[in-house]
Amino acid sequence: MSKTISGFSKLSKSEKIDWIVNTYIFNNENAKDILKQYWNSNKQLQQLHDEFIENTITNYYLPFGVAPNFLINGKTYTIPMAIEESSVVAAASKAAKFWLDRGGFKAEVISTKKIGQVHFKYNGNPELLKTYFSYIKPKLIKDAQPITVNMEKRGGGILDIELRDKTTDIENYYQLHVSFETLDAMGANFINSCLEQFAKTFKSEALNFEAFSTEEKHIEIIMSILSNYVPECLVRAEVSCAVKDLTENNNVSGEAFAQKFIQAVNIAEVEPYRAVTHNKGIMNGIDAVVLATGNDFRAIEAGVHAYAARNGKYSSLSHAEIKDGIFTFWMEIPLALGTVGGLTGLHPLVKLALEMLGKPSAKALMQIVAVAGLAQNFAALRSLTTTGIQQGHMKMHLMNILNQFGASPSEKENLVKHFKTETVTHSAVVEALEKLRR
Ligand code: MEV
Repeated sequence: MSKTISGFSKLSKSEKIDWIVNTYIFNNENAKDILKQYWNSNKQLQQLHDEFIENTITNYYLPFGVAPNFLINGKTYTIPMAIEESSVVAAASKAAKFWLDRGGFKAEVISTKKIGQVHFKYNGNPELLKTYFSYIKPKLIKDAQPITVNMEKRGGGILDIELRDKTTDIENYYQLHVSFETLDAMGANFINSCLEQFAKTFKSEALNFEAFSTEEKHIEIIMSILSNYVPECLVRAEVSCAVKDLTENNNVSGEAFAQKFIQAVNIAEVEPYRAVTHNKGIMNGIDAVVLATGNDFRAIEAGVHAYAARNGKYSSLSHAEIKDGIFTFWMEIPLALGTVGGLTGLHPLVKLALEMLGKPSAKALMQIVAVAGLAQNFAALRSLTTTGIQQGHMKMHLMNILNQFGASPSEKENLVKHFKTETVTHSAVVEALEKLRR
């Protein structure tokens, strides 16, 4: 059977599944049942999911968990997290509790500027292009007014438009580099609509600009698109306490713990192999909240990692120091988030997640998400520099291994008790289960 098809998107859901099963999964009798068991019996809810994307054939679940006890700027939060990795929510909760007893987290939004660019080619005198840009700039803003009027009423809109000469990188390449304030919206649609309007005006008005030669009049628009690199949409999250208060364990002093912790951060600051994993741990917390609150985690990931490499070498996003007996652990990261628009008003779980957070503004959500990232990083570094990561991770992973081998409820109960005092490894669990079954 051919593995290509035209008009697939026009088939009904059942026909799509039939085609897939017949074409690819013909050995698996259960394939249809597996797909169908994730359909929602609430038809309206299922339709909502069907219509999020093209060719929906079923739903893909992630656990939606919560991490309570986060104290942020004096206010307590229970943070919703959508993630599949066993230990992430447990680690966040543990870090939240640890810092709850030590003054909590502080967070501050440093800036909220977003960027979009019209990329174009112009073959001519650069000085004339500058003159044309100064002349046309007010009209660019005026022509975009139908798009910007509502955003302006709320206090946002276009902040500035610059002409940038990029001809040293690519022949005849220039940009309109535009900055925006999009308030509580992530702003992708708003920014892209503005940019496409700028491009239209910029190209068409050049034809009437008399100082241009015939060649100069023909500006070629390459593309108009927002940037997910947002180094000026920045939030800072921080924790601090007296070094002596850092310990929970009488065997390790606060000082010894802090010194080792700081060394681990220093390694991530200088060593890219470590920095990537260190930052991945931060993103465990960030992505989970970004996803639960209906934001675009790919945009966040791309922007955050670009920021981590902004000085030409990939490095740690977080930093730590001891000064005058006070341990401080902090991070500044770019987060372009929205609490209106997109999925935020559409997906029932996202609405619930935002309600749980007290219907935050985009700025408040930036703070919460940054804190979730810092908490996750703290929890990971604390484990790594004390017990090692596997102890906590494998404890959480135990249930996955038991499920993989079809353990019954009583077998689970028995083995969870057994592994409270034993080291969890894949083979140790299998062995213990086999022993129990014998
Ligand atoms: C695992 O998902 C994340 C960690 O590897 C992060 C880290 O090493 O800092 C534990």
